[in-house]
Amino acid sequence: MKLKLDNLFLSFKRPKVIKETMKKIETVVRSALRDQVVSAIKKEGVGGITIWHTQGQGAADPPLVGQYFSRENIVTIVPDSKVDVILDAIAQVACTGEKGDGKVFVTNVEQALDICTKQKGESAI
Ligand SMILES: Nc1ncnc2c1ncn2[C@@H]1O[C@H](COP(=O)(O)OP(=O)(O)OP(=O)(O)O)[C@@H](O)[C@H]1O
Ligand SMILES: [Mg+2]
Repeated sequence: MKLKLDNLFLSFKRPKVIKETMKKIETVVRSALRDQVVSAIKKEGVGGITIWHTQGQGAADPPLVGQYFSRENIVTIVPDSKVDVILDAIAQVACTGEKGDGKVFVTNVEQALDICTKQKGESAI
């Protein structure tokens, strides 16, 4: 009986483990290739995308202050399981072989909320 009570107590105390199952993929690409990249990642089944028109410099660019290259930053939040195929799809369409083709950055996303339905996590993306 005591053991059972202890187990009950532990189950109440156990902290909620939040499993990270989503990633943010930020793709900085030439503006002319924006639509091709979007089309390629949509084919891999991404949900929503956000696009920022940005300015930047790469590590190999001259470090001129106040002078930047125009690029598009395509942001999408995806389930972990899709990251590899999406990165491959981006590399396929966004590589011209010239300097300045861009970069892709992947980071963990802890939570997502669909504002009105209140669905969370992967159900929200
Ligand atoms: N470390 C970084 N952090 C944030 N943004 C970056 C970083 N590196 C590159 N970028 C963005 O990506 C754009 C394209 O970078 P780019 O491909 O020119 O990088 P690079 O290091 O200069 O390599 P390359 O030899 O291909 O020119 C930059 O203009 C900038 O907006
Ligand atoms: Mg460069």
